[in-house]
Amino acid sequence: MGIKINKIAVLISGGGTNLQRIIDAIASKELPQVEIIKVIADRECTGLERAEKHKIPHILLEKNKEFYQNLMNAIPQDTDLIVLAGFLSILKTEFCEKWHRKIINIHPSLLPKYGGKGMWGANVHKAVITNHEKESGATVHYVTSGIDEGEIILQKSIKIMKGENADWLAVKVHQIEYEILIKAIKKVLNID
Ligand code: GRF
Repeated sequence: MGIKINKIAVLISGGGTNLQRIIDAIASKELPQVEIIKVIADRECTGLERAEKHKIPHILLEKNKEFYQNLMNAIPQDTDLIVLAGFLSILKTEFCEKWHRKIINIHPSLLPKYGGKGMWGANVHKAVITNHEKESGATVHYVTSGIDEGEIILQKSIKIMKGENADWLAVKVHQIEYEILIKAIKKVLNID
């Protein structure tokens, strides 16, 4: 029997540095047996240029009333894993149920802390700093219809230094994300 190649779809809204991390990990064989079959964006973003550059099939979905139907249709039926890598649209229950335990998300905090509605990007890091937390980190979790509520797959924490601001924390957390995202994909797909 041949080795299974796991097909993943990556959903993005922003810079796509986590997408780039997956692309690079596949190229270097750090992430073997994986192929990105589709990149889907819900807005114009730098991440789409990365897909274009690496010749990965990609699509930009307009946020109109057909958005959720178009999103459903854009995911190839043979997708093994959907990775939300900075995707800002909230997925509908129907979508989450169809792809139950096949959608993972990377979140820039130690969930369940600093998760839920409005807790994305800089908002998370500002809240963490404002509350004088001693540590923060990143979490990869399964996606369910409750925002940031699905089962945690991997989490890693980092210490917050005295005087650290939200921008610096964001940079540090991004580094943690690059580390745990690849590990989480391997874990979920049972890749050694
Ligand atoms: C990351 O911080 C991720 O945790 C959050 O969105 C950001 C995406 O960054 N969900 P990038 O687009 O991968 O650079």
